[in-house]
Amino acid sequence: MIGLVDSGVGGLTIQREILDLLPNESTVYFADTGRAPYGSKSEKTILRYAKECFQFLLKNYPVKLVVLACHTVSAFAYEQLKDEVEIPVLEIIGPSVNLALRETRSGRIGVIGTESLINSGVYQKRLKEKSDVEVFSQSCPLLMPLSEEGWFREAETYTITRKYIAPLVDEEIDTLILGCTHYPPLIDALRAALPDYVKIVNPAAAVAEDVARMLQERSLQAPGVQASHLYVVTDNPERFKRVGERYLGRSMYYVRLVSS
Ligand code: DGL
Repeated sequence: MIGLVDSGVGGLTIQREILDLLPNESTVYFADTGRAPYGSKSEKTILRYAKECFQFLLKNYPVKLVVLACHTVSAFAYEQLKDEVEIPVLEIIGPSVNLALRETRSGRIGVIGTESLINSGVYQKRLKEKSDVEVFSQSCPLLMPLSEEGWFREAETYTITRKYIAPLVDEEIDTLILGCTHYPPLIDALRAALPDYVKIVNPAAAVAEDVARMLQERSLQAPGVQASHLYVVTDNPERFKRVGERYLGRSMYYVRLVSS
């Protein structure tokens, strides 16, 4: 199985691309819904939570590769978790960085994400390590609940999104990284808040390609049998399924509750 770790439903926007690209692969998605959101918590707490989820996944399921399907978890836990296991562990910040550097012409890149992610400065650091670009960041804490509420096209969502994005527009960014997996469903509101020439970077498809490449390199591809998808949550499986199916664009048949 391919394992995915996230605080909640956001990583389903990543899983959706993986399922589209790799329909033969079975997955197990761990959502720490009992302790989400992570994006307002400290580095120490996020690392501890992520570690527990990761270890639970590896102990209980035959996982051959793990995707940290959350920017916040990728930022705080990837370096530690990848060294704990023999199997490949993928994070989602690297693919976003590479895509943004490919897209930008002016070298003025905006990043939006959770408070913890933006305060960590991880995107700033990783972009500047690779290129001499200017990075402008903005945390957007209200976008996550709007996204989970399914308010993708409500007037209020457009107004709030515009307010968050305005400082980045003032800085004349030409590329915007969606540094939170909850944001892709808000693409219309984001598009409306940005000048037409600004490219929006969502790493989900690139992450799916990384998974495919890694499986091929290590000869880990699934045989052509029926794939199954299991969801493991630490609270409220009903809400996870109701909200998550919108993100996933598919039905969830197996949602299992475990204690956090
Ligand atoms: N969607 C997650 C991310 O990509 C954050 C959600 C949360 O705050 O738990 O960073």
